[in-house]
Amino acid sequence: MSTGPTDLGTPPDPDKVRMFSFLIFSKLEGAVTAGMIHLGDRLGLYTELARVEQYLTSDELAARLGLHPRWVQEWIHNQAAARIVEVRHDTDADRYALGPEARVVLADESHPAFGMGMFHRLPQTMNSLQVLPESFRTGVGHDYDSHGPDGAVGIERSFEPWSRSHLLPTVLPSMDGLPERLTAGARVADIGCGAGGAAIRMASAFPNSHVVGYDISRFALERAADRKARESVSNVEFRDPRRDPLPEDGSLDFVTAFDCIHDMTHPQEVMGSIRRSLKDDGIWLLVDIKALDTFEETMRKNPMASLMYGISVMSCMSSAMSVPGGAGLGTLGLPESKAREMAVEAGFTRFRRLDIEHSLNAFYEIRP
Ligand SMILES: C[S@@+](CC[C@H](N)C(=O)[O-])C[C@H]1O[C@@H](n2cnc3c(N)ncnc32)[C@H](O)[C@@H]1O
Repeated sequence: MSTGPTDLGTPPDPDKVRMFSFLIFSKLEGAVTAGMIHLGDRLGLYTELARVEQYLTSDELAARLGLHPRWVQEWIHNQAAARIVEVRHDTDADRYALGPEARVVLADESHPAFGMGMFHRLPQTMNSLQVLPESFRTGVGHDYDSHGPDGAVGIERSFEPWSRSHLLPTVLPSMDGLPERLTAGARVADIGCGAGGAAIRMASAFPNSHVVGYDISRFALERAADRKARESVSNVEFRDPRRDPLPEDGSLDFVTAFDCIHDMTHPQEVMGSIRRSLKDDGIWLLVDIKALDTFEETMRKNPMASLMYGISVMSCMSSAMSVPGGAGLGTLGLPESKAREMAVEAGFTRFRRLDIEHSLNAFYEIRP
């Protein structure tokens, strides 16, 4: 349906009313099916279907997981109707399976295309609808911890698969001299480190380096500390920058910030602090959402725009406005031009977009 201007004075056309209703209810279908995807992930329905790699009746699937067959049947009807699960109508029963691509996205946590992270935290994200009307009145949003401990798990599961496959082999070598410097021993900080995946990965790969992850989320920092202990990595630590700020003494070799600057209440100040923390030959790797300069361009070119603006209201912009006067950049609020302008304002002089393929993110190498 066209989103262009229409003649506002004309009476509603019944056919167009039907089409518009279909548009609106297709959004509700997406939201409800997203809830069913959450259940498929949480109850292990996808992993079981992926594991067996064959067609099963819904009763067989329910029995394998010790679940009630009637509930699994209704769930799988939703999934087949939504074309997520494949169905074969045999004469004795309907049987269901996951195709190879579905297995990767729904059930293979080690694959870079694994997509269940955002669905993991769907109930918490949707629950924000309870408090957001007040935010619309006051202007003040909610930080990541408002989504509870599962919010941090969802974020971790969203970003880990790609980071696990690409951070060390693709991203770090794209910056001149960086792997050698990390191998020799460098001081590194990961800002907005979440559950610590990237920081621990860098610390493990470069034992002569020392990595500090900074985050304001108590739940993320707890997960990071647990993981550090589990993986017995000693050259990494995690801090809350409100108590233990980034050292602004020109002592760091390398700073990273993955998908977090647009979530911050004071991104310009944080960029200034990153600049002051770095040696004159230090490097800042900024990774943030690929965004476009204008809303008009975003509407035209970004097929995920409505999803991203919605996530922004419920999560990113809400976080970025979680104190009065927060900058409120939000999910699509840091296009390259803005990142460059803010980096210059923070005292950086060199800015280069890295040639790294990613469906959502852009990568920038920024130097003093
Ligand atoms: C979308 S998550 C990304 C987490 C992590 N970088 C990853 O890739 O998994 C954004 C993170 O930024 C953190 N954050 C927001 N404002 C912050 C600030 N001022 N300083 C440090 N972390 C902050 C949030 O708590 C959240 O964990």
